[in-house]
Amino acid sequence: DFEFSLRPQSFDQYIGQSKIKENLKIFIEAAKLREETLDHVLLYGPPGLGKTTLATIIANEMGTNIRHTSGPAIERPGELAAILTSLEPGDVLFIDEIHRLNRSIEEVLYPAMEDFCIDIVIGKGSSARTIRLDLPPFTLVGATTRVGLLTAPLRDRFGVLSRLEYYQEHELSKIVKRTANLLNIEIEEQAAVEIARRSRGTPRIANRLLKRVRDFAQVLGFEKISAHLAEDALERLQVDKLGLDHIDHKLLLGIIEKFQGGPVGIETISATIGEEAHTIEDVYEPYLLQIGFIRRTPRGRIVTDLVYKHFQMEVPKR
Ligand code: ADE
Repeated sequence: DFEFSLRPQSFDQYIGQSKIKENLKIFIEAAKLREETLDHVLLYGPPGLGKTTLATIIANEMGTNIRHTSGPAIERPGELAAILTSLEPGDVLFIDEIHRLNRSIEEVLYPAMEDFCIDIVIGKGSSARTIRLDLPPFTLVGATTRVGLLTAPLRDRFGVLSRLEYYQEHELSKIVKRTANLLNIEIEEQAAVEIARRSRGTPRIANRLLKRVRDFAQVLGFEKISAHLAEDALERLQVDKLGLDHIDHKLLLGIIEKFQGGPVGIETISATIGEEAHTIEDVYEPYLLQIGFIRRTPRGRIVTDLVYKHFQMEVPKR
């Protein structure tokens, strides 16, 4: 579909994550030379950095098909068995949010990953027996925002572990220009830079902001997105100079105003601002940690002096 076509389809089109990309290219080429499947790949890192896109590219570059599922979507071991037995040789099986697979389902994956087979139990009680089914060779690509939640036996069965990093501003600005081009939007260099700067290192956010800025341009009757228009629109979208939105603000100001800057536990913050603790941990906190706005201590989260300066507040004496 339309949304899908914005995603880069090959390594050539994929901007950023150069270390991961260069390594994956080697592993893919080597697997092809040996006429083997690629070893299983675990992609981890904050949301919106391109894990799904990379999985798609891996399949494209291997010249195989991709099957897409996710940890929470698989409810019983039999469902995973059904997917595994219906794969074609060489297929990529992509499991998003793989840390959310439950334990009994995960155990189906162990022999599947290691020996391309599954053990199926037939019957009950004393007459129960297991039969072993061979699977076509395949590549499992797992993605997670929380690698620490993966069990050791699952993590250890991946041959390639790649951590995606936040993107640099110049990479995001290239991505914005690429997407603008695909959407037939004219955009000034400085406007792309302005959107990139406020995208929290995250292509998904950059592309979302571009689309919203385009809405302003269209309705206000501008043919081209100028830096001035971009700044104006981003202001209206309540995205500040660092790309922090009103939820980031609520989080940071909540810790300052209600807990004197912390330390405060994640569950308490969650209850105070009305955002799920998981969402705070997976979506908001990683970037705030990265830019040094929040620190984790054994007694909870604290905001740093940078936050007071960002909001032009007096830095408290401690
Ligand atoms: N769109 C979203 N992420 C991208 C990336 N890493 N490269 C090119 N286009 C993208």
